[in-house]
Amino acid sequence: MSNTIKMLQNLLLLLLVPIFLHSFPILIQGSNQYERKPYIVYMGELPASRAHTMEQHHYNMLEAVIGNKQLARESKIHSYGKSFNGFVARLLPHEAEKLKKEKNVVSVFRNTYNKLHTTRSWDFIGMPLKVRRNPNIESHIIVGVLDTGIWVDCPSFNDEGYGPPPRRWKGKCVMGANFTGCNNKVIGAKYFNLDPTGPTLPNPSPVDDQGHGTHTSSTAAGSVVRGASLYGIGEGTARGGVPSARIAMYKVCWSIGCSDMDMLAGFDEAIADGVNFISVSIGGPSRDFFSDPIAIGAFHAMRRGVLTSCSAGNDGPRPMSVENVAPWIMTVAATTVDRQFTTLVSFGDGKNVTGLSINTFSPEKNMYPLTSGSLAANLSGDSYGSPSGCDYGTLDRDKVKGRIVYCSGGTGGQDLTIKEYGGAGTIIALEDEADASYTTVIPGAFVDIDTVGKNIETYINSTKNPQAVIYKTGSTKFPAPYLATFSSKGPQRITRNILKPDLAAPGLDILAAYSKLATLTGYPEDTRYDVFNIISGTSMACPHAIAAAAYVKSFHPDWTPAAIKSALMTTATPIKVNDNFTELGSGSGQISPVKALHPGLLYDIRMDSYISFLCMQGYNSTSIGTLIGSKSFNCSKVKPALGTDGINYPTMHVQLLNVTSRISEVFYRTVTNVGYGNSIYKAKVTAPEGLSVEVIPDILKFSRLHQDLSFKVVLKGPPMPAEKVTLSATLEWNDFKHSVRSPIVVFKPF
Ligand SMILES: *[C@@H]1O[C@H](CO)[C@@H](O)[C@H](O)[C@H]1NC(C)=O
Ligand SMILES: *[C@@H]1O[C@H](CO)[C@@H](O)[C@H](O)[C@H]1NC(C)=O
Ligand SMILES: *[C@@H]1O[C@H](CO)[C@@H](O)[C@H](O)[C@H]1NC(C)=O
Ligand SMILES: *[C@@H]1O[C@H](CO)[C@@H](O)[C@H](O)[C@H]1NC(C)=O
Ligand SMILES: *[C@@H]1O[C@H](CO)[C@@H](O)[C@H](O)[C@H]1NC(C)=O
Ligand SMILES: *[C@@H]1O[C@H](CO)[C@@H](O)[C@H](O)[C@H]1NC(C)=O
Ligand SMILES: *[C@@H]1O[C@H](CO)[C@@H](O)[C@H](O)[C@H]1NC(C)=O
Ligand SMILES: *[C@@H]1O[C@H](CO)[C@@H](O)[C@H](O)[C@H]1NC(C)=O
Repeated sequence: MSNTIKMLQNLLLLLLVPIFLHSFPILIQGSNQYERKPYIVYMGELPASRAHTMEQHHYNMLEAVIGNKQLARESKIHSYGKSFNGFVARLLPHEAEKLKKEKNVVSVFRNTYNKLHTTRSWDFIGMPLKVRRNPNIESHIIVGVLDTGIWVDCPSFNDEGYGPPPRRWKGKCVMGANFTGCNNKVIGAKYFNLDPTGPTLPNPSPVDDQGHGTHTSSTAAGSVVRGASLYGIGEGTARGGVPSARIAMYKVCWSIGCSDMDMLAGFDEAIADGVNFISVSIGGPSRDFFSDPIAIGAFHAMRRGVLTSCSAGNDGPRPMSVENVAPWIMTVAATTVDRQFTTLVSFGDGKNVTGLSINTFSPEKNMYPLTSGSLAANLSGDSYGSPSGCDYGTLDRDKVKGRIVYCSGGTGGQDLTIKEYGGAGTIIALEDEADASYTTVIPGAFVDIDTVGKNIETYINSTKNPQAVIYKTGSTKFPAPYLATFSSKGPQRITRNILKPDLAAPGLDILAAYSKLATLTGYPEDTRYDVFNIISGTSMACPHAIAAAAYVKSFHPDWTPAAIKSALMTTATPIKVNDNFTELGSGSGQISPVKALHPGLLYDIRMDSYISFLCMQGYNSTSIGTLIGSKSFNCSKVKPALGTDGINYPTMHVQLLNVTSRISEVFYRTVTNVGYGNSIYKAKVTAPEGLSVEVIPDILKFSRLHQDLSFKVVLKGPPMPAEKVTLSATLEWNDFKHSVRSPIVVFKPF
């Protein structure tokens, strides 16, 4: 089938080449010139008269640069046009360059692939099952999720007791392979795999064959399921943060990743369909805002009152790893909850150790023979890799069979290797500090190499018949919240003076719904399927935050996306300090949704403020005009953005230019009173040595609700000492009832 398509394509190319050569005689320079690649041509806001001619206009633009009608038609992949203007086409680099210069074009960029940022959590952040709710309004909220699709047939998406979708809903339920349809909980589902020349992928439908999208959407808005667990592990009540809300799935991720063009299509449709929130647990390297599909999509969502929440990435603890940093996005880091999944291992000498893992298997014997990768090495093996780490191909099948194998270090997948050789289990010693519990395909536990691993190895080496048994995973109390080690950190590289991530939410060992088309570990060698799974990632934190936002909206339907985000940020609980990057890892701290209902003051950001911010960032007036659909827009005619960051953000951040810079910054802020009409807020500042923080004025007297008052925050200080990387201060506005907290972070390059 696909061979036939390839043949036809080649034939087509052959047919087209002569015409093509004819039009562009100068281009006969190398055969790869004919390699057209998909590019996104982004054209900002929809034209004022929403014309059916938009697609025609895209063709005309293409024809003008390609110089051939037929080829222009062949090369166009998709036209956007429901929520913003633009198209995708296969282009040569010089054609992309030409299109960039067209008026009405904001940006042209190569299509790339993004990746996924792979029940107790709600109780932990102070939202018990019986929390006060506004179920009628909540049930009108629609959470859009861009992800791997959804497996509707799980208890978490049971729609018993849910009325019909909200009247304003314009979405659809697109049917297809293995997808069983929508209901009154999952009210819409679409899928996007736009590139006709991409690989053929299984399950062309909104069905989830990876589990990720099912997990994230149930975390956001899954129904309440009592007695949920993964093979008895993590037993409790599973539920989304807003169980009455509705879910709309936009499947934009496939086994090969999530392409820019598909993600933009997801945003284009979700916004037009009428979702209230969008959750995106996907990311890629930071890019200029208007060459970044998530930043573009979230911008148009924000213009229509829709808040987008994104995962910060799983590339921590390394600094400068944070993704999805546009100021109109709510960027979410991952924290631990107060429960850890631990796995007990007992040894023949009576000693016990506790490892981390999700081990669903109960032992069948009291003890199993134990060996190590080093001792089980295949001496006649010809494979690279280390036997002590149990790397693939380095072990002797006969020495593994029936035994538990201790692996020290290694490159991953040890459990699969040992399963293949008939081993009874594995203890994997890791060098990097780890806090997440991962599922193994055979009985398994992860331990720390230095504190635990070395002793296990000594026992194995010094004992005639070493033995061990790995028990099924249980849970233990854990001090929390901490930032998860994998959670990506700032400082960000795009708008250097905006602190990202914004806030944090639980993302470690989260139990939520799963797809029966995916095995628990995702490995085909695994044979376990369940409607729940326990997984970790900022991917899991992101839907917690969007649900918290939806919860706030169910009490304050008129608040803007920025106001809701501000409420969640200024009421967040600061994360415990575990290194010098506390706020650069967790922003304002862990969400506290119930407190966020009464923030006292809001740092709102309206459209004109984003616009002046973009002007300050140096975006060209013509581009901004296109972005907002105003032809005559000119930055020199808007009120200029002031201060270090030029935006009314609920946090304050500066990245100094170099090690010798003195600190001298001003932040201009306006707060809106949503507490009590008559109220007096006093500024309380905490600042470290070497940083002075002055708030002018330091008293705000409100005489009515919704009143705006402005102030400025002046930071001063000598160059930071060589050994310091960050200085952290806080500003808190207090009226005795509310505490409105903003971290202030100075970062110096090191
Ligand atoms: C439906 O799912 C099954 C099991 O994963 C798979 O083998 C089959 O190819 C899928 N059907 C389609 C049309 O993709
Ligand atoms: C090790 O764990 C086993 C199983 O829970 C228990 O019976 C035993 O008492 C423990 N041994 C020690 C030394 O704690
Ligand atoms: C050892 O490695 C060799 C070469 O890769 C392989 O042919 C052989 O089957 C291995 N032996 C065992 C017992 O696994
Ligand atoms: C155990 O024995 C293996 C193989 O002889 C050796 O590589 C390893 O260093 C020893 N480890 C300890 C802790 O004794
Ligand atoms: C914080 O930074 C200081 C100075 O660079 C360093 O000595 C200290 O170890 C750091 N703390 C942590 C927890 O990394
Ligand atoms: C803005 O960009 C457009 C299109 O790239 C260009 O024609 C124009 O000269 C730029 N304007 C300014 C003020 O730089
Ligand atoms: C914007 O206004 C300034 C000053 O009025 C003018 O010099 C400039 O040409 C205008 N730019 C555009 C793109 O209209
Ligand atoms: C460092 O910053 C200072 C003050 O901003 C500036 O004068 C100096 O040129 C900068 N040095 C380097 C090496 O960039």
